[in-house]
Amino acid sequence: MEESMTEVVLKLYRLGKWKEIVEKYHDHKDRNKLLWVFPSEDNFEFLKECLKEFKCKGVASVGCGSGLLEWMLQKATGISVTGIEVDGAWWHCKYAPPTFIPLIVTSPQLNENVLLELGNKDNAILFCYFNNRSAFENYLKHFCGPVLVIIGPDQGKGVYTEPGPFEKILGWELYKWREVRQSKDFLSVYFRRVEVDS
Ligand SMILES: C[S@@+](CC[C@H](N)C(=O)[O-])C[C@H]1O[C@@H](n2cnc3c(N)ncnc32)[C@H](O)[C@@H]1O
Repeated sequence: MEESMTEVVLKLYRLGKWKEIVEKYHDHKDRNKLLWVFPSEDNFEFLKECLKEFKCKGVASVGCGSGLLEWMLQKATGISVTGIEVDGAWWHCKYAPPTFIPLIVTSPQLNENVLLELGNKDNAILFCYFNNRSAFENYLKHFCGPVLVIIGPDQGKGVYTEPGPFEKILGWELYKWREVRQSKDFLSVYFRRVEVDS
């Protein structure tokens, strides 16, 4: 019997072959079971450069799901990535897809270990295909780091996320962005605005 996408991805994961995963599966019909967006090697390089410019030493990825993106980001950049999830019951149950990094499971009120991640001034925060506006705002309220990354669809894709990749976000300035191949999915990097006293 032919192996499923998940089975092959797991094999490649165990071999550390993240480049093969993004090349082979970025447009596979079952890809959303594991991850909504498969950035290209160039996209990962772009993120690495941005994180370096702002001297980020870690990334806290909120709503990480399976953690496949987070594992690949870690491999591609050498920067440590933690994954935060509210739906621990699903991601740890026997019917769920595999998880690729240990998840930090939180309640919507945010547990202490999540607040520690958010309070780390060397961290960037990342939301990929996040879908909860009020939770997004709550995470940002507690976040102390210099960089915000949003990955999601632009208008015209017919899919909506909260937040989208080109929103005006109070206190943040859009710095650079890249399209993921020609998918109408974008990676947007924001930096924290410095308030100047008058
Ligand atoms: C559409 S999925 C995207 C998953 C993954 N980032 C991806 O791109 O494949 C949105 C995820 O956000 C999680 N989520 C929703 N509200 C959350 C919250 N308040 N804190 C953490 N995760 C949350 C959901 O459980 C779900 O796994």
